[in-house]
Amino acid sequence: MSLPSHPILVTGGNKGIGLEICRQLARLHYRVILSARSPERGQAAVARLAEEGLEVEFLPLDVGDEASIQTATRELARRHPALQALINNAAIAPARFGTILDATAREISETFTINTLGPILLIQALLPLLKAGKPSRVINVSSRLGSVQDMTDGWAAYGISKAALNAATRKLAPALAPQGVSINVASPGWVQTEMGGQEAPLSVEKGARNIVRLITEFPHDVTNRFFGEKDEIPW
Ligand SMILES: NC(=O)c1ccc[n+]([C@@H]2O[C@H](COP(=O)([O-])OP(=O)(O)OC[C@H]3O[C@@H](n4cnc5c(N)ncnc54)[C@H](OP(=O)(O)O)[C@@H]3O)[C@@H](O)[C@H]2O)c1
Repeated sequence: MSLPSHPILVTGGNKGIGLEICRQLARLHYRVILSARSPERGQAAVARLAEEGLEVEFLPLDVGDEASIQTATRELARRHPALQALINNAAIAPARFGTILDATAREISETFTINTLGPILLIQALLPLLKAGKPSRVINVSSRLGSVQDMTDGWAAYGISKAALNAATRKLAPALAPQGVSINVASPGWVQTEMGGQEAPLSVEKGARNIVRLITEFPHDVTNRFFGEKDEIPW
């Protein structure tokens, strides 16, 4: 695959899989914009990569806040004429092991706002930049726990939000295709991060690689699919 000339925006880039996606893309000489909701945590992550000899840009962006999405979009358009890719990585997983019978309205709605609505609103806002960078692509980082075919109890709000993100991807794919933008869902696998816990089998490097490979190995016209670590996952 040839290197994209326009930058790639990563949400939730200050830690975990998002930070490692930024690191791996920067090592491969992609232009990376690391975004984070906390300017302090985001700048600290950028500084950490700089110490490793990797230069990435910082953009403040809270995907759970519509005003922040609009501000970040304006700032991005001021800095760059186009985007090559958007990686919707940011997410939360409150009350992870809780049963759906105990899930609170607040928990469900907050998780949906960040994990599902955020990516949709961000794609809408960034569409002019993605169109300007076409062929461009969106990767929605989802989870096996969002596969409707494979639902079990636990991770209730999170599972619902990721299933809805997958459904949104199915809606977005035909809408974006005529604009020269492809969109896929990818699960990193179960990964050792704050969200995944230390008992997870995959390192953060491996988890991030499962997302980065969609940029480095997949042709631009692959769209509307749900990729796991090795195989495709049923919707
Ligand atoms: N780890 C796993 O086993 C696993 C498995 C399947 C899927 N995934 C998916 O992989 C992605 C990354 O997960 P992770 O394991 O790296 O989680 P993590 O370590 O908890 O990191 C989550 C990242 O999202 C950011 N974030 C949360 N809410 C945000 C908001 N409103 N605006 C902007 N950023 C926000 C966090 O920022 P703060 O530091 O400010 O909170 C953090 O940078 C997620 O989409 C997750 O669902 C993970």
